[in-house]
Amino acid sequence: MSNHTVPAPLAATGEDPLARFRVDGRVAVITGASSGLGAHLARLLSSAGARVVLAARREAPLKELAAQLPGSLAVPCDVTLAADRERLVRTVSEEFGAIDILVNNAGLSQTVPAEQHTVESFSEIVAVNLTAVFALSTAVGTGMLERGRGSIVNIASIYGMVASGSLPQAAYTASKGGVVNLTRELAAEWGARGVRVNALCPGWFWSEMTESMLGTDKGRSWVERRTPMRRAGQLDELDGALLFLASDASSYVTGASVPVDGGYLAL
Ligand SMILES: NC(=O)c1ccc[n+]([C@@H]2O[C@H](COP(=O)([O-])OP(=O)(O)OC[C@H]3O[C@@H](n4cnc5c(N)ncnc54)[C@H](OP(=O)(O)O)[C@@H]3O)[C@@H](O)[C@H]2O)c1
Repeated sequence: MSNHTVPAPLAATGEDPLARFRVDGRVAVITGASSGLGAHLARLLSSAGARVVLAARREAPLKELAAQLPGSLAVPCDVTLAADRERLVRTVSEEFGAIDILVNNAGLSQTVPAEQHTVESFSEIVAVNLTAVFALSTAVGTGMLERGRGSIVNIASIYGMVASGSLPQAAYTASKGGVVNLTRELAAEWGARGVRVNALCPGWFWSEMTESMLGTDKGRSWVERRTPMRRAGQLDELDGALLFLASDASSYVTGASVPVDGGYLAL
C-alpha cells in the first residue's frame, strides 16, 4: 500500500474538474528559466497560481522575468555544479519552504556527426541534460519523499524516443533517451511514496536552441517534412501537457513520457 494521500473523487466533492489543473500556492522550481521553453513554462506555472523559482546561469534575464511574475524568485544556478544545486535547494527552502514541483528543463544541444563528437563535448551535454536531472531530482526528491508528495516534470524530447537521423546529435539523443528511462526509474522507485515523475517530450519549438534550424528555409522545411502537422509548435501548445503533469490533474500518472510534437513520433 502507498503511504500518500489519494485525492477525493470529484463526484464526491462537486469540484470543478478544471480546478485540478491549478497549482495555487505550490512552490515550483524551473531550471533553464532564462529563455525559451523554461521562461515560458515559468510564466505558465505562475499564471496557474504557483510561486515560481527561476534557475539558470544568466542572472539578467532571470531577474527581468522575476520582476514580471508576482512572488517569484530568481536564483542563478549552473545545474552541473553541486554547490549551485545545493544553494538553489537551500535558498528555496529558506525563502519559500518545501518544493512541490520541479521542472528539469535546462538543456544543451550540439549538431555534429558522431565520429567527430569529442568525448569532452559529449560529456558536457550529458552533464547538463542527464546527470544534472538525476542530481537535482534526488536533491529535491528527498524532501518530497519526506512529505509524501511532489511532482517532477523532466523536459526530455522526441529525440529521447527516436534518433534524429540526418541531423546528427549523439549526445543530445543519448542524454534525452536517458532522461526518458530515468523518469521511469524514479517513478518506479518513488511511486508508492507520493512522488510522481513524468517526462514531456516536445517536438520542434522556437527557441535559442532551435533558431539555427527553424530560422532558415532549409531547416524549417526539414522539420516540416518530418512533422505530420507540417509546422513547428508554438510555446503555448505545451501548456496543457505541462499543467497536466505538474498538477493534481495527473494524480494517477507517473513514469509517462508525453509527446507534444505535431505527430512527429507517429511516423
Ligand atoms: N526548443 C525545442 O524545440 C525543444 C524540443 C525538445 C526539447 N527541448 C528541450 O527543452 C529544454 C529547453 O530548451 P529551449 O529550446 O528552450 O532552449 P534554450 O532557449 O537554449 O534554453 C536552454 C536553457 O537551459 C539553460 N541552461 C543551459 N545550460 C545550463 C546549465 N549548465 N545550468 C543551468 N541552466 C542551463 C539555459 O540558461 P543559461 O544559459 O542562462 O544557463 C537556458 O535557459 C531543453 O532541455 C531542450 O532540450 C526543446
